[in-house]
Amino acid sequence: MAKPLKAEFLDRLILIVGKDFVISDSDARKLYASDSTEDFVFMPDVVVKPDTVEEVSDIMKLCYEFDIPLTPRGAGTGLSGACLPVSGGLILSTERLNRILAIDEKNFQATVEPGVINEVFRNAVEAVGLLYPPDPASKGSCFLGGNIAHNSGGPKAVKYGVTRDYVLNLEVVLPTGEIIWTGADTLKNSTGYSLTHLMIGSEGTLGIVTKIVFRLLTKPTHDLLMLASFANAGNACAAVAEIFRTGVTPSALELMERKAVELSAFYLNETFDHKEGMEIYLLIEVDGFDPDLLMKDCEKISEALERFGVDDLLFMETFDQKEKIWKIRRAIGEKVKAHSIYKEEDTVVSRAYLPELLAGVKEIGSRYGFESICYGHAGDGNLHVNIIKGEMSDENWKGKHLEEGIREIFRLCKKLGGTISGEHGIGLVQKKYMNEVFEPMQIDLMRKIKAVFDPKGLLNPGKIFP
Ligand code: MLT
Ligand code: ZN
Repeated sequence: MAKPLKAEFLDRLILIVGKDFVISDSDARKLYASDSTEDFVFMPDVVVKPDTVEEVSDIMKLCYEFDIPLTPRGAGTGLSGACLPVSGGLILSTERLNRILAIDEKNFQATVEPGVINEVFRNAVEAVGLLYPPDPASKGSCFLGGNIAHNSGGPKAVKYGVTRDYVLNLEVVLPTGEIIWTGADTLKNSTGYSLTHLMIGSEGTLGIVTKIVFRLLTKPTHDLLMLASFANAGNACAAVAEIFRTGVTPSALELMERKAVELSAFYLNETFDHKEGMEIYLLIEVDGFDPDLLMKDCEKISEALERFGVDDLLFMETFDQKEKIWKIRRAIGEKVKAHSIYKEEDTVVSRAYLPELLAGVKEIGSRYGFESICYGHAGDGNLHVNIIKGEMSDENWKGKHLEEGIREIFRLCKKLGGTISGEHGIGLVQKKYMNEVFEPMQIDLMRKIKAVFDPKGLLNPGKIFP
C-alpha cells in the first residue's frame, strides 16, 4: 500500500494544476474509487485533474520523485477494473482533457484529447459527413482515452474493426515524464516497432495518452435493421457464420438471449413482444450508400437465416423502432447488473465456433450451479457471459468453486482458438486467468516491456499481470 502523501507532494501538485484540481476531500475522492466493474471500492489518496500535457508530465515526474503510484482514469465505464487505484496513491483523471482539437476533412483525420466522450466525437465528425465507427455500449459516457486503453470494440466492429484500426498516432506521457509521439499521422507506416499499437490495449500501464490522431471514413447514408428470433440457440449461433458466407458483411450482428432482452426492457420500462418459445435473438444491421443494394443484402441474409430454422424475422421499419431495439441492446450489460450480483466474462472465439462456446458455457454453468445470461457481438464471436449469483452460496461465489467454473469457460475459449477478453480487457478482475492463455514466457516478455517503460512500476500497478 502507498505511504501517506507528504505535505510537500500535495503542495507541489497544487503548484502544477492549481488547488481546485487537486481533490483531497474524502467524499469527492470516493467518486473515483469505483468503476463499472462489479462492486469494487479502492480509495485513492488524491485525485488530480490536469488540463495540459505539460501538467500530466509534471505530475508523472513528481510521482516518480516521491514513489507514488499513479492510476489514470477516464470516465470509469471500464468492465475489468483497470482504472481502480488498488495501491492507493494518485488518480490522474483525464476529464479536463476533453477537446476536439481538429477535424481534418481533407485527410479524413481528427486530433482529439483522451477525455472526449465517444459519442460527442462521433456526432462532431458525423456533422461533416464522416464516420468514426467504434461504438462501445457505453458510447454516451465512455472516453476515447479509455477506448484506447482497452482497444474497445462495440457492435460496429464486425464490419469496421475496433479502436486500434482507427488510431494513427498518439501523444503519450511516459511514466518518467517524457512526452513522445508514437508514430506518424499516416495511413501507412512501416517504420520500426509500432509504439502506437503497443500503447493501444495496454490499459494505462505503459504511459498516459494525451492526444490521439484518428483516421475517419465517409459516413454511410442508409442502414437496414432486422431482428431474427430463434427457439433454438444452437441454430441462431450456427446461422452467424453462414450469414458471412453469403458475401454480405453486416455492420452489426448482435446476439441476445431472451432473458437479457427481458431484463433490459424491464428496467428501461420499454415493451418488447417476445413470441412464444423464442429463446434467442440476432440483431442484424447492414449499412451503405444504396438502399436497393442493402435490400438485396437483407434478402441474402434472410435466406441464410431460413436455412438455419429462423422462427421469425422482423424488419425495423422506422427510426423509432431502430432506436428502441438498439437502446434495449446497449443497456443489457448495465441492466443485467442492476438485477443481480454478477460477474461478467468477455469470451471470444472465431465466429464459426460460437455454437460450441454458448453450449459449453451452459453446460459448465449447469455443472457448477450458476445461471448465465449471454449476449454480445456474435459476428465477432465475442460473447459476453454474465454469471448471475442466483442461488449460489456466498462461499461458492467468492471462493475457488466459481473461479474454477470460470477457468473452465476460459479453457474452452482457448481450446476453440479463442481468448479470455475480446474488448473489456484484463485489468484487475481477469489477471488471475492470464495463465490460461499465455505461457510464463509470454507473460515474462510483457513484464519486461512494462519494466522498460516504467522501471519503478508506479503507473497503474496491480493490473494485467497475474
Ligand atoms: C456491451 O456489448 O454491451 C458492452 O461490452 C458492455 C457490457 O458488456 O456491459
Ligand atoms: Zn460488448
